[in-house]
Amino acid sequence: MWQPKDFQQKVIDYYRQHGRKHLPWQGTKDPYRIWLSEIMLQQTQVTTVIPYYEKFLQQFPTIVDLAQASEDQVMHLWSGLGYYSRARNLHKAARQVADEFDGQFPQSQSEIETLPGVGRSTAGAIAAFAFDQPSAILDGNVKRVLARCYGIEGWAGKASVLKALWQRAEDNTPGEHTAQYNQAMMDLGAVVCTRSKPKCDSCPLSAKCYALGHDKIEELPGKKPKKAHPKRSVYWLVCLKNNQVILHKRPPSGIWGGLWCFPEIEQTQSEPEHQQKLDSFVHKFSHYDLEVQPLLMKNIADTGIMEPNQIGTFALNEIAEIGLPTPVSKLLQTLAEN
Ligand code: ADE
Repeated sequence: MWQPKDFQQKVIDYYRQHGRKHLPWQGTKDPYRIWLSEIMLQQTQVTTVIPYYEKFLQQFPTIVDLAQASEDQVMHLWSGLGYYSRARNLHKAARQVADEFDGQFPQSQSEIETLPGVGRSTAGAIAAFAFDQPSAILDGNVKRVLARCYGIEGWAGKASVLKALWQRAEDNTPGEHTAQYNQAMMDLGAVVCTRSKPKCDSCPLSAKCYALGHDKIEELPGKKPKKAHPKRSVYWLVCLKNNQVILHKRPPSGIWGGLWCFPEIEQTQSEPEHQQKLDSFVHKFSHYDLEVQPLLMKNIADTGIMEPNQIGTFALNEIAEIGLPTPVSKLLQTLAEN
C-alpha cells in the first residue's frame, strides 16, 4: 500500500512529466477564473468547456461584471452546457461576493464553501489553485483513483464510503506543491485511471494499486445501485405566427430552470387540437428520460397553462440572447430552416 509521502512524490513527478499545464484556467491566480473553470468542469469535459469558458470571460471579465448581468444573459452563455443550476448558482454566488465580500473573492476554504454551488471539493480546488492553500480535493476523478488504489469498496454516495475517501484524500494531500498535486490527481483520473480501459501501463501508482493487483478494476469504484429509469412524456406546443414563436420561461428551480422553452403539457392530458405532429424525440437526463412530442399549434392562447408574465414572443430567424436548452435550440433551428 502506498504511504502518503511516496504517493505524493509519484503524483507530483507525474505532473511534472505529463500533467496538463496549458489549459485556459491554468497560469492564472485569479480566483474568479479558477472558480468559473471548476464550476464548468464539475459535470462537463475539458474539450466541451473551453469555448464556453472563453466566451463567458469575454462577456464577464470580472466577478463584478457577472454580478451585474441579467439572469437571461448568464443563461444564454450557459445554453448547451447542461446542469443549469450551476449557472444559476454561479450568478447568485457572484452577487454574494459583490454584496458580502465587497467584490473580493473570499480566500479561506470555509468562506469559499458558503458560496452557492461550491462544495467541499470545489472549495478545496479554488483554495489550492488560487491561494496556494494545502487543501484536499475529491471530485469524481480523484474518487476513482483513490478507490482503486486503496481498494475502498462501495458507492461514494454512501456516507461511510465518502468518509473513507475523504480521509485518504486528506492524508495524501501534501502541505506544499498542493496545486500541482491536485491538478495531477485530476489529470490522472481523467487521462490514465479512466472509468473503462484505464491505462495502467502509464500509471505512476500501478505498482501498489489494489484494484490492479486484485483484478478489481471493473468493480472499483463501486457503482450506484441501479433504479428503473423513469420516463416522462410531454407535448411541446409550437405556436408560429408570422415567423414569430412563443416561448415560456421556466420557473427558477427544477429542470431547465430560468431557461426559455416551448410551453409544455403532460401527455396524460388529452391531446390539444393541433395542425401537425412534428418529429418526436427523447432527451435523456441523468435521472429520467423526457419523451417529447412537438405539436404545431394553431393557437395556444386558450390552453391556460402559463403565467402571462412568463411568456415571450421571439423572432424565429433571430432568437434573442436568452437561455435555451439544447433540444429547444435545435427545434427552433429546424423550424427556422423550414
Ligand atoms: N476537472 C475539474 N477541475 C479541473 C481542472 N482544474 N483541470 C482539468 N480538469 C478538471
